[in-house]
Amino acid sequence: MQFILQPGGSLSGEARVPGDKSMSHRSIMLGALARGTTRVSGFLEGEDALATLNAFSAMGVSIERPEDGHVLVHGVGLHGLKAPSDPLDLGNAGTGMRLLAGLMAGQAFDTELTGDASLCSRPMGRIMDPLALMGARISAQPGGRPPLNIQGGTALRGIHYDLPMASAQVKSCVLLAGLYAEGCTSVTEPAPTRDHTERMLRGFGYPVSSVNGVISLQGGGALQATDIDVPADISSAAFFLVAASIAPGSELLLTHVGVNPTRIGVINILLLMGADIELLNEREVGGEPVADIQVRYAPLHGIDIPEDQVPLAIDEFPALFIAAACAEGRTVLRGAEELRVKESDRIAAMAEGLDTLGVTNEVLEDGIVIEGGTLGGGEIHTHMDHRIAMAFSIAALRAQGEIVVRDCDHVATSFPGFDALAGALGLQIRTERG
Ligand code: S3P
Repeated sequence: MQFILQPGGSLSGEARVPGDKSMSHRSIMLGALARGTTRVSGFLEGEDALATLNAFSAMGVSIERPEDGHVLVHGVGLHGLKAPSDPLDLGNAGTGMRLLAGLMAGQAFDTELTGDASLCSRPMGRIMDPLALMGARISAQPGGRPPLNIQGGTALRGIHYDLPMASAQVKSCVLLAGLYAEGCTSVTEPAPTRDHTERMLRGFGYPVSSVNGVISLQGGGALQATDIDVPADISSAAFFLVAASIAPGSELLLTHVGVNPTRIGVINILLLMGADIELLNEREVGGEPVADIQVRYAPLHGIDIPEDQVPLAIDEFPALFIAAACAEGRTVLRGAEELRVKESDRIAAMAEGLDTLGVTNEVLEDGIVIEGGTLGGGEIHTHMDHRIAMAFSIAALRAQGEIVVRDCDHVATSFPGFDALAGALGLQIRTERG
């Protein structure tokens, strides 16, 4: 599948983008391990979260999907999963694999976790190391790559782990393994990362303490089923926040967006660049902050992105690089080496696409320098990365020629229907399936 984009245009209207990917994964995992039936609304019907859903179905959890975005998970309790007959295929989803690895380490049965070519090239040593310290037995392919073979029936013990990198997936993996460990499991992070695991565990009645940067829980408790309202994903909304900010005449209202403080780096960074963004109707839904976000076109200027915002915007840099390309002056990003191990090496993949469009940039080991200017057209390669595809799609709003974005199938991992919604809001996008 490829997107063909005509240059120019503006965006207007109101939209609710699909549900939060991080929360959708977690809602299935915790719902499956709870006692009773968990009702999820706003669930992301994207390939990543559906891969997690299918993994739990394969382990004997009955999961109903009465209508789009609604899921009923009939929990089996922490010790009620059954051995799957085949390897669990997490598709493209790093979150699915890393969080599941923590849970599988505590089961009585063996499991194999696998995924697509992109996921099978991503580093798993970062979760294997702490899990090994807890007593888990896991083997991987050379370089710590998937598939992972996880031996069941191993007694886990609680540990304290100082995370070497700011990663919510590693934090969550350790905490979820901690549910099965003897004693206390605790972590500290080099910088705050998304805290959906902690919030959702509490929502399921499982005590998690966060005191002076130490996040901890005791093993051996139980989860009680609950209702979960998954807000719209700020990571998907980000493409429209940038799109409306760069296209003169744009005005959008994005409704029911999750604005957890550990996720709003994209808003903070765009505001520093001069964006016109307002949070309206701020409220709390099921323990997560939610708001409607109004965004209007505004001329942007380049900035040095504050490093403390990097983990809070980690998935939004492809979109932010496009904002930087359209801004006046230079934008500098440092301290973002984690971008190199996402669904693609996002620094390299974005730099390649920016080169194609004629945007001056300098790649750094841990970031990039982008000189704002004029964008041309051209053919973009996504490296099978959903966010690279969507970032270069919105770039068309300020391009001077047609942009063809090749290999867009992976957009369905996080944002099914992106092309239709973007088109309805004003992006001149056409999809070709071949
Ligand atoms: C996620 C954590 C982040 C993020 C990913 C989702 C999560 O990954 O990039 O899209 O749901 O915990 P890292 O933990 O690798 O930073």
